[in-house]
Amino acid sequence: MPSGSGERPAWPIGLDGIAYGCDYNPEQWPAETVAEDVRLMGEAGVSFVTLAVFAWASLEVRPGVYDWGWLDAVMDALAAAGIAVDLATATAAPPPWFSHRYPDSLLVGPDGATRWYGSRQAFCPSSTDYRQAAGELTGAIAGRYGGHPALAMWHVGNEFGCHNPACYCDRSAESFRGWLRRRYQDDLGELNRAWGTSFWSQAYRSWEELIPPRQTVSFANPGHLLDWARFCSDELLGAYLAERSVLRRLTPGVPITTNFMSFFKPVDYQAWAREVDVVSNDHYLLGHLPRPEVHLSLSGDLTRGLAGGPWWLMEHSPSAVNWQRVNQAKAPGEMIRNSLTHVARGADAVGFFQWRASPFGAEKYHSAMVPHAGTDTMVWREVVDLGAKLRRLSEVAGSRVEADAALVFTWDSWWAAEGEAHPSSEVRVVENLGEWHRAFWEAAVTTDVVAPDADLSRYRLVVVPNLYLVSDAQADALAEFVRNGGHLLVTWFSGVVDADDHVRLGGYPGAFRDLLGVRTEEFFPLPHGVATALSDGSTGRRWSELGRSEGADVMVTFAAGPVAGSPALTRHRVGSGWAYYLATHLEGPDLDALVGRLVDESGTRRAAVVWPGVEAVRRVSGNVSYLFLINHTDEAQTVPASGIDLLSGATADGSITVGPGDVAVIRQPAAG
Ligand code: GLA
Repeated sequence: MPSGSGERPAWPIGLDGIAYGCDYNPEQWPAETVAEDVRLMGEAGVSFVTLAVFAWASLEVRPGVYDWGWLDAVMDALAAAGIAVDLATATAAPPPWFSHRYPDSLLVGPDGATRWYGSRQAFCPSSTDYRQAAGELTGAIAGRYGGHPALAMWHVGNEFGCHNPACYCDRSAESFRGWLRRRYQDDLGELNRAWGTSFWSQAYRSWEELIPPRQTVSFANPGHLLDWARFCSDELLGAYLAERSVLRRLTPGVPITTNFMSFFKPVDYQAWAREVDVVSNDHYLLGHLPRPEVHLSLSGDLTRGLAGGPWWLMEHSPSAVNWQRVNQAKAPGEMIRNSLTHVARGADAVGFFQWRASPFGAEKYHSAMVPHAGTDTMVWREVVDLGAKLRRLSEVAGSRVEADAALVFTWDSWWAAEGEAHPSSEVRVVENLGEWHRAFWEAAVTTDVVAPDADLSRYRLVVVPNLYLVSDAQADALAEFVRNGGHLLVTWFSGVVDADDHVRLGGYPGAFRDLLGVRTEEFFPLPHGVATALSDGSTGRRWSELGRSEGADVMVTFAAGPVAGSPALTRHRVGSGWAYYLATHLEGPDLDALVGRLVDESGTRRAAVVWPGVEAVRRVSGNVSYLFLINHTDEAQTVPASGIDLLSGATADGSITVGPGDVAVIRQPAAG
């Protein structure tokens, strides 16, 4: 619940069913375009737009001088058409007049060089001038439109930290010092202890000596870097909260969001999610990945873990983006599959960036719902088709996604695990987590991505990949899950350090040694591309280690090399549960086999019969469930299932054929 307010406003005002919309930037178009836009939005079934995200310069044309006319007209036209507005505070891109007037508000890099205006988000998150001006603009917008019939939700800033995640200026240094004083309760000795500053003559004797981790000649202090990462996320959050407090004061009943970016390293969304009324997320397909659709699902599962309920897909792209090396257009049907995958994984809104493709500016080659070529296009036909499909799925809104399994992830651990001067740079946290997620995806098992502090009692199976940094309380929560009957699997390079990034002495995996019944004495990381044989015929990669069981059953050992005979996979009975340890990285069929075994042993439910290439996810509401079957192959797939396909209207009796690249959403009775 947002601090300082009453009940959390539930959902954007006046939006039922699965909301459908986009970013809308009418300030970039002649005023006459609005009527045509609203007509076409009606044709597509658009029910919301996100407005004025980058409109600061068009609204506050000079300091304190506002031009509301164009936005009044757009808001009125949208209200008349029944289209709800997620109205931005317009603070994501300060105009040149602002940056010119307040040059100290500009961001400074770790090298000490200023990052100039002429793009967007050109501000230091700690700038008091920026916060002051952003607060005034927010107040002016809330004052003018707080009671407007089109207003459904506030959209604060945009993708906080996307381009300005950290600033190293003197103002940021001052703010960092304040943050450190609060964290260490004014006890400099405690900071020196936490950062381990007896190493390399780094002891601080006064608070004034503390600076951001600006570019150094060699490795920086890891405690300094970790606290800096925490500070930067909090500092951006401070900028968000400053605007939120203005909105709460002026419009207490209007829900507030800001759009997240899935696995965006600089911002700890698990902390941020507590401060938004509606969790909203942006996701763009990463064309260089072998299976971008699986990564998309992972993003959905993370966002659901953050929201704990329905969430809002604020942006994805109708077709190509403009910021990858090669910006691949989406194949026929791909955009619809992408959209419905987000819905399958808990989104109750589908939004695009953006409505109309720009003829100018840095995003002129970014796709849009209305392409450069107009409406006689594949993109537009699919946009209209998607709108119709979402209307047919209205009853799915509000249902919850069935997930008996979870993957554990925290930003703190991610920051620490990928630090410099570590045993191996093969510890790529999200990539390794993604491999686990892929294996569950193939097994038709949906996984929430959550922090160890989440309520784990709802899961049967929890996997903890590379949770390098873990607090005592987090380790206790995972142990409690096992004692109560859960199946837990912890992978290599987990539990190694405490919350200060100090190694837990006495053997790895430190925090989990007793729970897992193992003790590792030395890491033997494997060079990139080097594999190691395991005793059950599978292949370990990236990592091996020298250890022994201290109570656990050894199921698989390393079969060759310097750690031959050392445990690779163990299992330990604790309370009424099982705690597994995997001391290497598995991929492909080897990991699939392990996941299959864990799923069966733990009694984790699969959404459907496993069908290669068909993604299966289930949403449940009361005694009804909705089985999403997303066919990612080029051939029709006939999958065992019964019920009514909400999209085609067909009745399936025992099996359903999902066309090539097509989607079915089957209403069935929920299992008891
Ligand atoms: C982000 C931003 C949008 C736009 C898109 C382009 O999601 O929020 O303004 O720049 O990226 O992909």
